[in-house]
Amino acid sequence: MKGIVLAGGKGTRLYPLTASISKQLMPIYDKPMIYYPISTLLAAGIHDILIISTPSDLPLFQRLLGNGAQWGCTFTYAAQEQPKGLADAFLIAESFIGGGPVALILGDNLFHGIHLINSLNRLQPLKGGHIFAYKVKDPQRYGVVQFDDQKKVTHIEEKPTRSISSYAVPGIYFYDTTVVHKAKALKPSARGELEITDINKAYLAEGALGVTPLDSGMVWLDTGTIESLTEASQFVRALQSRQGVLVGSPEMAAFSSGLIDRAQLKQFANQLGETPYGQTLLNHLENEIS
Ligand code: TTP
Repeated sequence: MKGIVLAGGKGTRLYPLTASISKQLMPIYDKPMIYYPISTLLAAGIHDILIISTPSDLPLFQRLLGNGAQWGCTFTYAAQEQPKGLADAFLIAESFIGGGPVALILGDNLFHGIHLINSLNRLQPLKGGHIFAYKVKDPQRYGVVQFDDQKKVTHIEEKPTRSISSYAVPGIYFYDTTVVHKAKALKPSARGELEITDINKAYLAEGALGVTPLDSGMVWLDTGTIESLTEASQFVRALQSRQGVLVGSPEMAAFSSGLIDRAQLKQFANQLGETPYGQTLLNHLENEIS
């Protein structure tokens, strides 16, 4: 399965921080935001990845991430000329997707917990579309799914104005190859965007949309506002200092997925020298051996 990280957009809710630089390059504690969704894809074994961003920010991502060889993966890059919506990603990525299934992850979404990765592993081979549902107190900011008594999805709606359910759809989506065709058939919504919720509705109408509720032990943070960005930094800091692990480290994700070996991980750790990041990688290697 191929993967797309969607890292464009305007980032207006973070102004002035993001007036001249991409939101997905902002720090979440000790690493750039885009490290987190990349780590999620790598941990799920997805290593052929397209990064989509604005024409002006794309060179910065290329400088940060290179061709991916350092993490045993492949990065290709594509520009989104205008922020036309999340589903526009599938039009931009048509030739990248080719004839296979694809995962899309939003560049400002942070996932933590083994439940998601286990669920992702169970998705292959993928039939139709698959999304997740996560209980939040402010679902009206997101796409929302409604279930019946049998936990079957009955309805899905983008930013509903009335309360229909507390299950929001997190920014990670899995689709078979018909997604490109579905994206081509979309019309812009009232806010002028090609909506991912309309893609999900198209799968739902075909009876081909799987939805997995994520349990509350799993963490999903969307880091698009200054409050949520700060909370995400605090979360990562608390977990890393308490457990001595790295959250959202592509090196660790690549190592645990077998994309890089111990020697490569050690090389990274040494390059990062005395930073807490480098030291945590070294500690991990030492503890593994002992
Ligand atoms: P949003 O947070 O909905 O939009 P935004 O990043 O433009 O922020 P703001 O509302 O503050 O202006 O986007 C979610 C993610 O999708 C984020 O990682 C940016 C990305 N995105 C694109 O890459 N292209 C787009 O056309 C849109 C709408 C979003």
